[in-house]
Amino acid sequence: MSQSVNPLFQPFKYGALSLPNRTVMAPMTRGFSPGGVPGQPVVDYYRRRAENEVGLIVTEGTGINHPASVSGDSIPLFHGEKALEGWAEVVEAVHEAGGKIVPQLWHVGMTRKKGELPNAEALPVGPSGLTLTGEQVTEPPTTEEVEQLVAAYAQAAADAKRIGFDGIELHGAHGYLIDQFFWEKTNKRTDRYGGNLVGRTQFAVEVIEACRREVGPDFPIIFRFSQWKMTDYGAKLARTPEELEQFLTPLVEAGVDIFHCSTRRFWEPEFDGSPLNLAGWTKKLTGKPVISVGSVGLNGEFTRFSEAEATDIHELTERLGDDEFDLIAIGRAVLQDPEWVKKIKEGRTDEIRAFSKESLQTLY
Ligand SMILES: Cc1cc2nc3c(=O)[nH]c(=O)nc-3n(C[C@H](O)[C@H](O)[C@H](O)COP(=O)(O)O)c2cc1C
Repeated sequence: MSQSVNPLFQPFKYGALSLPNRTVMAPMTRGFSPGGVPGQPVVDYYRRRAENEVGLIVTEGTGINHPASVSGDSIPLFHGEKALEGWAEVVEAVHEAGGKIVPQLWHVGMTRKKGELPNAEALPVGPSGLTLTGEQVTEPPTTEEVEQLVAAYAQAAADAKRIGFDGIELHGAHGYLIDQFFWEKTNKRTDRYGGNLVGRTQFAVEVIEACRREVGPDFPIIFRFSQWKMTDYGAKLARTPEELEQFLTPLVEAGVDIFHCSTRRFWEPEFDGSPLNLAGWTKKLTGKPVISVGSVGLNGEFTRFSEAEATDIHELTERLGDDEFDLIAIGRAVLQDPEWVKKIKEGRTDEIRAFSKESLQTLY
């Protein structure tokens, strides 16, 4: 291993979670689970990453037990006997290969369109029935209905532990359900789930607390959040470090172990006057370990279907070495090449190819 990639290959330990290196496979929706059930191709896909030294795998977003949690019939579910059996096989395969894996628990909220599978009759649900572009398409759920959503996350957390996962990741990013509660444009509620920035964290707080009650103190809970939304890359939940602290404090108190701070380019400063990125600020403000992400090894930013050239990882290892963040998630590079981490470790960079959108069609 060359000296320059050393920081990436240092072990990581936090509570019950021990990883051999600092690499994380970013959660990536693939749509290869017919009927919501992850089958052998999905088992093999994750196993290959574990065999090739990815430190921690975060699965693609997987739907909690609510009829409108996902859009599409091939998105894996995280409820029902068959789907959970499929996930148990994924876990077993990853563990056999020496890897660690957490499921990303997901509800898409108001990004779901009326009539979409797997339950065409289920209406989209979100804090105020508003889409991310402000269109009123459904009635806001009652307080009791919101509590049922909280309970569905908790059930998924309990199932994750029962079938052997190494923790969970809650998808609180990119404009999906939890983030719709965070965002002022989609949350106009007047009950305890609405209000100012801190009030709008209440849904996430209850989700985290309910998950924590199910899994106990030692089971890692990772929380993913972002400023940007799928419909609005310039959106901000927090405009200053002070606002970021107000936003994060309730989540820390609710029981988050690790924050996964989703940005599209990991090298970009989050606020004026400091080079720290969103993960760097989150670590500084909370003292919690953080995962950074965004265009690692690629020069083209994350837009799902673009092409991107491979680049070196010098800036990444420097920032990791400076402890700006603890772990780094890699998305497209690892989607396309299961051996990416190993190739970096062994200096086989000439074997790393540019990212092409064709790779989305195959489970390499
Ligand atoms: C095909 C694809 C599917 C994705 N699906 C998810 C998802 O289910 N959950 C999530 O939090 N992020 C998802 N993302 C975002 C990635 O986790 C990651 O943050 C993003 O790709 C930036 O990392 P990269 O530049 O290394 O690809 C997806 C990205 C891609 C390319």
